[in-house]
Amino acid sequence: MVNVGFIGGTGVEGRGLALRLAAAGVPVAIGSRSEARAAAAAAEYNSALGQPLIRGVSNREAVVFAEIVFLTVKFEQTTAAIESCRDALVPGKLLVDVTIPVRFEHGHPVYAEPAGGSAAEFLAERLPPGVPLVASFKTMPAKLLADLHSELQCDEFVCGDSQEARGRVIDLVRLIPTLRPVDAGALKMARVIERMTVLAIQLNRSHKRDGARFTVVGI
Ligand SMILES: NC(=O)c1ccc[n+]([C@@H]2O[C@H](COP(=O)([O-])OP(=O)(O)OC[C@H]3O[C@@H](n4cnc5c(N)ncnc54)[C@H](OP(=O)(O)O)[C@@H]3O)[C@@H](O)[C@H]2O)c1
Repeated sequence: MVNVGFIGGTGVEGRGLALRLAAAGVPVAIGSRSEARAAAAAAEYNSALGQPLIRGVSNREAVVFAEIVFLTVKFEQTTAAIESCRDALVPGKLLVDVTIPVRFEHGHPVYAEPAGGSAAEFLAERLPPGVPLVASFKTMPAKLLADLHSELQCDEFVCGDSQEARGRVIDLVRLIPTLRPVDAGALKMARVIERMTVLAIQLNRSHKRDGARFTVVGI
């Protein structure tokens, strides 16, 4: 089984993903800028799991531990987060970007297009050589992920320019029950997927829900 680490694993999206993956039997380390905060979060996640499955470490140690590294910080914090772990991001590792660049105008979510066309493309340009970036879990609501009793019953888009790297993430998605991986092709499809999340945020707001997500019919 592949080891998975989280840069910024103490937040809500990191929590949900760490719980789902650990429950599926994946070895997980959650990282933080503070080891104490990571340890406290891991203790809380393990209590939710009922087993001591997740370790809490520094962001850098989480990268060292993992073959697949999730970047689960706000888009504005991604550059600092990557810089703090750059020396540990070596060939053989793969970064999964879940970030959505969004701002709110008069209570409505607006896509804040980064240089490069999408957050995923912006970040891919800033990784060390030999470390591929795959965009996934961008449309997955954190609260739903964290509720282990809820069935996800939706699709998970996976895009990236390396077919081999996409395949590794697709294999990981497949481990989570009731979630179907969908190979969405090249990284530039993140321009569409990130905007779909903005739509989901708007739908959640207008319908006073928190679980809007996507299923593709016909494939
Ligand atoms: N929430 C959702 O439903 C959802 C759905 C899809 C995608 N996403 C994406 O998931 C990502 C994480 O969202 P979230 O709501 O989980 O975020 P969050 O709770 O605000 O933050 C995640 C973690 O980022 C770390 N962090 C904060 N400032 C940092 C900095 N300057 N440098 C490095 N790390 C820093 C913090 O960890 P420490 O303080 O412990 O270091 C924090 O726990 C976002 O990009 C979001 O767009 C969220």
